Amino acid sequence: MKTLVSGGTVVSATGRTPADVLVDGETVAAVLSPGSTLLGFDLAAHVDQVIDATGKYVIPGGIDAHTHMELPFGGTNASDTFESGTRAAAWGGTTTIIDFAVQRTGERVMDGLGAWHDKAAGNCAIDYGFHQIVGGVDEDSLKAMEGLVAEGVTSYKLFMAYPGVFYSDDAQILRAMQKAADLGLLTMMHAENGPAIDVLAAQLVAQGKTDPYYHGIARAWQLEEEATHRAIMLADVTNAPLYVVHVSAKQAVAELATARDNGRNVFGETCPQYLYLSLEEQLGAPGFEGAKWVCSTPLRSRAEGHQDHMWQALRTNDLQMVSTDHCPFCMKGQKDLGVGDFRAIPNGIGSIEHRMDLMYQGVVTGQITLERWVELTSTTPARMFGLYGTKGVIAPGADADLVVYDPAGHTSIGVGKTHHMNMDHSAWEGYEIDGHVDVVLSRGTVVVDETGFRGRAGHGRYLARGLSQYLV
Ligand code: URP
Ligand code: ZN
Ligand code: ZN
Ligand code: ZN
Repeated sequence: MKTLVSGGTVVSATGRTPADVLVDGETVAAVLSPGSTLLGFDLAAHVDQVIDATGKYVIPGGIDAHTHMELPFGGTNASDTFESGTRAAAWGGTTTIIDFAVQRTGERVMDGLGAWHDKAAGNCAIDYGFHQIVGGVDEDSLKAMEGLVAEGVTSYKLFMAYPGVFYSDDAQILRAMQKAADLGLLTMMHAENGPAIDVLAAQLVAQGKTDPYYHGIARAWQLEEEATHRAIMLADVTNAPLYVVHVSAKQAVAELATARDNGRNVFGETCPQYLYLSLEEQLGAPGFEGAKWVCSTPLRSRAEGHQDHMWQALRTNDLQMVSTDHCPFCMKGQKDLGVGDFRAIPNGIGSIEHRMDLMYQGVVTGQITLERWVELTSTTPARMFGLYGTKGVIAPGADADLVVYDPAGHTSIGVGKTHHMNMDHSAWEGYEIDGHVDVVLSRGTVVVDETGFRGRAGHGRYLARGLSQYLV
């Protein structure tokens, strides 16, 4: 099957140029100057299909490097399966996810990884890889880490939060980081001081402060900053590269920036919710509404200016990437487990379908450039997590994961509009985007076009990842 995507502007992390993209089978065969001729042949007449991208951007498919399909959390499971979640991703222009295989305290790492393969295999509409959650470091998990690189799992996540579930103390973190430094694994960190948060949360509930809003009060920014600093110091002493996930506090960004200024291999990711949503407006919504936006790290105060600071950090490269931390739960039967006690609300927001659009809105408002949009959502995720060359770029030999994005189009977000995630509400209800995902190709196959979803469960392949290409 040969496809020509013609007439568009091809955008990369470093520039934009009018070009036609020739796809042969699953890969990009050529990026050509416009007009679609090669050695005198009219290419459009010699391919099986032509996709007209006139007036539109052609970008490498989005890579969402932080998702949680079917994550067991707080007595329930994240509501998107690999099938529903990857279909929603495709709708939104994301063609690769990296999900977190889970090992909880007391379980074995390789059993967790095997279970995640079983959940995903044959069910994904787009390509997928895994990070490994190591929940509670012990002799067994340290030994198991030695096998991860061979499995194509070159990054793993530790938690300084959630005591009793995923938590690792400083001694455990230090030992895991030593091992990771030896193996070339990238350490991903949930940087919040969990034991301190749990005390504050219990005190708030004892005072009758049980609404979702108090989730954000218990998880104070000081406890994100402190944990971020501690993670950086532990990484420093072990010489382990560090990637801090879901950064939301401007003070945590300052810790990352200082470490980077000191030449450390320290990186940070933020998520759309920390760019747009706030403690006051969303977590503080009347009644139990705020539960829709209970996630960790929490939404931060707009009065304190965290959101603007996150945009700035994306511009200055104090933060390198935007992932969703897609972890959806329905209000009915899931979030409502926490009526009367915010501690029992399962943590997570669903955004996988909207990341490319929400970040494009940053281009429209002048917060980031077009090229930075591609870099934050596709190229850097590919480099950070060992996929670059195959993913994250439109170049001969790369997988033909392409998005035709219409800057003159419009996207209304919300249930009954664009909403293919398995959730009974949208955390983004009412958002209006100047831009539209028109056509999505995954390895040369059209999975979304103006007729709707044309992909299938099982098209997506497991990606055995290489070591990070972002480290020096
Ligand atoms: O609230 C969140 N972030 N839920 C998913 C688990 C995690 O910590 O990433
Ligand atoms: Zn986390
Ligand atoms: Zn997460
Ligand atoms: Zn359109």
